[in-house]
Amino acid sequence: MKTIFVRDYDEMSEKAYEIIKEVIEKKEQPVISMTTGGSPRGLFKLFVEDINNGLDISHTTMMNLDEYMGPKDATYTVRTFMYENLYNVIDSKPKNIFLIDGETQDTDEEITRYKAILGKYPRDVQVIGLGTNGHIGANEPGTPFDSMMFLAQHDESTIQSTMREYGIEREEAPTEMITLGFTEILEAEKVILLVSGKHKAGAVKALLEGEITPDCPATALRNSDNAIVIIDEDAASLLEKDYKNL
Ligand code: PGA
Repeated sequence: MKTIFVRDYDEMSEKAYEIIKEVIEKKEQPVISMTTGGSPRGLFKLFVEDINNGLDISHTTMMNLDEYMGPKDATYTVRTFMYENLYNVIDSKPKNIFLIDGETQDTDEEITRYKAILGKYPRDVQVIGLGTNGHIGANEPGTPFDSMMFLAQHDESTIQSTMREYGIEREEAPTEMITLGFTEILEAEKVILLVSGKHKAGAVKALLEGEITPDCPATALRNSDNAIVIIDEDAASLLEKDYKNL
């Protein structure tokens, strides 16, 4: 796992976007899988700006890490986020857009369908965020490190984060999500973990200085050469070692 320490949220977004842009410019058939929520909003802004200034994405396949179970047009869904923050605000279109169907009545069938897509379109980049409890995707603490795409139940802290992020009440908040497991997350050629803010500092400490354990799901990345963690100063504020000057 490679760590990149940055000043703040904006620099985190810039560093992450640089990696994605290079993949899009260099690869013949780039495949980018995104996450949603607060962490990648800045990255999406940079991406949209570049596309609307002429960056060619006509050869690029876009997909996502997960999807909440609920009406597909609800404010909190991954689908809504992707259309509001990318697909509806760009002048050109990617080659393919894949999304998980959170309205499905048959989660097994939906997982089989999406896994076939993952098999056909190996990802160059998987972007992920870090839960305050250390989760990645919806792999909550306790999920075995060999998890494969599954229907996950959210921890209470995750439900609370979703409520804050999308300004919704407890009754409306989704409690389940179809998510890639650790197995599929780590299959991407590059896994970019975005971490910004003091509320993530405990999870960052566990990620870098704690033991590798399903109690802190993100520690599944520690021994992976594919993983790149981008951490800002607030998120790094509880670390004991000075990683920048090691
Ligand atoms: P956030 O969520 O980007 O909205 O902070 C991260 C996560 O829970 O995965």
